[in-house]
Amino acid sequence: MPIKFNNKTKEFHIMNKHISYIFKILENGQLGHLYFGSTISHVEDFSYMEFVPHRGLSICSFEDNLSFSLEHIMQEYPCYGTSDFSEGVYQIKQKNGSIITDFRYDSHVVFMGKKKIDHGKMPGTFGEDNEVTTLEILLHDDVINADMILSYTIFENLPVIARHTRWVNKSDDCIRLTRALSANFHFDNSSYELVHLSGAWIRERHIEREKITSGIKSIGSTRGASSANHNPFMALCESNATEDNGRVYGFALVYSGSFYGGCEVSTHGTTRISMGIQPFNFEWKLEKNECFCTPEMLCVYSEQGFSAMTHTYHKLFKNHLMRGRWKDKPSPILINNWEATYFGFDEESIIKIAQEAKALGVELFVLDDGWFGNRNDDKTSLGDWFVNKSKLPSGIGGLGKKLVEDIGIEFGLWFEPEMISVDSDLFRQHPEWRIETPMRKASHGRNQFVLNFTNEEVIDYIFEKLAKIFRCSPISYVKWDMNRNISECYGSNLMNDCQGEFFHRYILGVYSLYEKLITEFPYILFESCASGGGRFDAGMLYFAPQGWISDDTDAVERLKIQYGTSMIYPLRSMGSHVSDVPNHQVIRNTSFSTRANVAYFGTFGYELNPLSLSEDEKLQMKKQIDWMKKYRNLIQYGLFYRLKSPFEGDGNIVAWMVVSEDKTRAILGVYQVLSRPNPNRTRIILKGLEGQKVYKIGASERQGDSLMSFGISLNDVFTGVNVSHVMEIIKGGSAFGKFGIGDFSSEIFEIVEKGREEYDIKNK
Ligand code: DGJ
Repeated sequence: MPIKFNNKTKEFHIMNKHISYIFKILENGQLGHLYFGSTISHVEDFSYMEFVPHRGLSICSFEDNLSFSLEHIMQEYPCYGTSDFSEGVYQIKQKNGSIITDFRYDSHVVFMGKKKIDHGKMPGTFGEDNEVTTLEILLHDDVINADMILSYTIFENLPVIARHTRWVNKSDDCIRLTRALSANFHFDNSSYELVHLSGAWIRERHIEREKITSGIKSIGSTRGASSANHNPFMALCESNATEDNGRVYGFALVYSGSFYGGCEVSTHGTTRISMGIQPFNFEWKLEKNECFCTPEMLCVYSEQGFSAMTHTYHKLFKNHLMRGRWKDKPSPILINNWEATYFGFDEESIIKIAQEAKALGVELFVLDDGWFGNRNDDKTSLGDWFVNKSKLPSGIGGLGKKLVEDIGIEFGLWFEPEMISVDSDLFRQHPEWRIETPMRKASHGRNQFVLNFTNEEVIDYIFEKLAKIFRCSPISYVKWDMNRNISECYGSNLMNDCQGEFFHRYILGVYSLYEKLITEFPYILFESCASGGGRFDAGMLYFAPQGWISDDTDAVERLKIQYGTSMIYPLRSMGSHVSDVPNHQVIRNTSFSTRANVAYFGTFGYELNPLSLSEDEKLQMKKQIDWMKKYRNLIQYGLFYRLKSPFEGDGNIVAWMVVSEDKTRAILGVYQVLSRPNPNRTRIILKGLEGQKVYKIGASERQGDSLMSFGISLNDVFTGVNVSHVMEIIKGGSAFGKFGIGDFSSEIFEIVEKGREEYDIKNK
């Protein structure tokens, strides 16, 4: 049993072969934290870990005891008010106006397996009974007669602790949760750095790393979506931690709505990390016997730097969070018409694009925005989920038939289910379904408004509209977009004193629509999207195994976006396309090969018009697709290693690689942003191979240990002396785009163990 309780010392020890997590029931009945790190052999008494300092000016819990002050004791789930002065992770407002609570240990249970989060209303990790074990601790507050249940799950083979919390009101009086974070992780020192993923639209999830100092550093969102600005992920690392060394604690929230992530360093040098639903503007009313459940927070421990943390998250998400038949299947190679046509398409042009794409090997055609209502620009028709017959006379069913049966390509369709345009039949029928605050102007975003997904009637209506289309057309993929955040938040269906519930109820509504759709249409592959990566988070992966990580399709910008996103999200989940040049977001020209060399490390697809490509480019496209079909299993299910960061130094050289689990094959991608005159050579040190194996890389044979120590030297740098070589490059000859030759150059290396060249890589 990986969870032990010592009745004498009142200590809990949650452990597996990677980690130990130890805490105890304190003298006052609350829970005190003792240790979280690599596995410690179990002993009957861990009291040597306790630290109850006697500090002047402390507020103390017991008579004649000047030491026991919650301000100075490490806690599992702290709360402001009874000798702790931090904001705490939860707060309950009571009938008499008080916010003071005192939840004390009552009992606990340990069981194999894991319950669904909020009875399945929220996304969460799962595991078979032999894979996960759960500890639930019940604490009770006698004064308000409420229960608080802290849940801890350990995964048998992963250094992961999953936590969440729930409350049950047992009294006749109503109580209100005004802060309900999922968990707290307490550290006895502050010699750490904080890493998080921040950005904005078209530059999502850039890695930021900073020293922590006393005070509170927080990230989060108040937008109704997890956002492009901050991702629900944070990590604490030792200041010398690198990709391969040092202790790292990762924290990810399985949630897609407004969230909070806080790192609080006390002036005595302890650190608290907490994450959960954004407390700003949050309040949840609990009547008798009602229950509230937080989202799940996933903590990963690594003793070997960020790379090991990444591998754990990738495995955790792929095996214990993503669901459905698509999670184990590599993504189909798709073409999306958005950047090729925007709103300006008709059936004929779509068919032509699909035909050409099919001939080049594309497997799935995705019809993006503009196929419904009177949608010819972004001012109209959201909510009118019926086909625009003047554009598509055969209807969605007819078009689907032509694509799937005649051309032999799969068919995918774009929707934006949460939105409404004022110029739409839906708005004319149900203006009250738009989110707005009474007597106030509603602000638009991209000319559109948000539907009130806290209202089940709205969700049922949208479900029926979407289901009607899915039921009568051969759709096997859906891109679910969401192109604005919520302003003037208000639920006209909610009681006045329940408006603090709005944002959480909204995201529960989104989850419920997803659940209904994947239940009736389990064969459909969902790709989440929110103006690109505005809602790319662990919560979404539970419903949609892939997500469009950014509207920025420029290969150079994508280096940063994909590098940052890879910190915890698997390559299988990262939507990545080759688009046209000049690029539509940053107006940059990069070679066709570099665009593909970046996009390979994700789901891979195209976002361009193949009819406008030259014959040479078409040939390249066909080769790229053939190549990806050969290697996508390895890329999407292998172990990903970041080798050279775009965020460190001048960020000019970037490199990453994927290695098969059995270390027989690997794919390396190296990229140079700007060409530098007369530079030093570039040496890339590889990772994850087997030291004693001999590998073929290009024309050479190299020992694994040498590849992982000396690395490979990319000294084929253009020096400007070979004039014929220059001419060839200028004409766009074969060398163009090769790593080191010109701006935005790149190269892909296939690495295979000697003797295994013919070995079938399909299932790697
Ligand atoms: C934003 C998405 O990220 C794009 O890919 C595209 O689908 C547009 N919306 C369509 O409006």
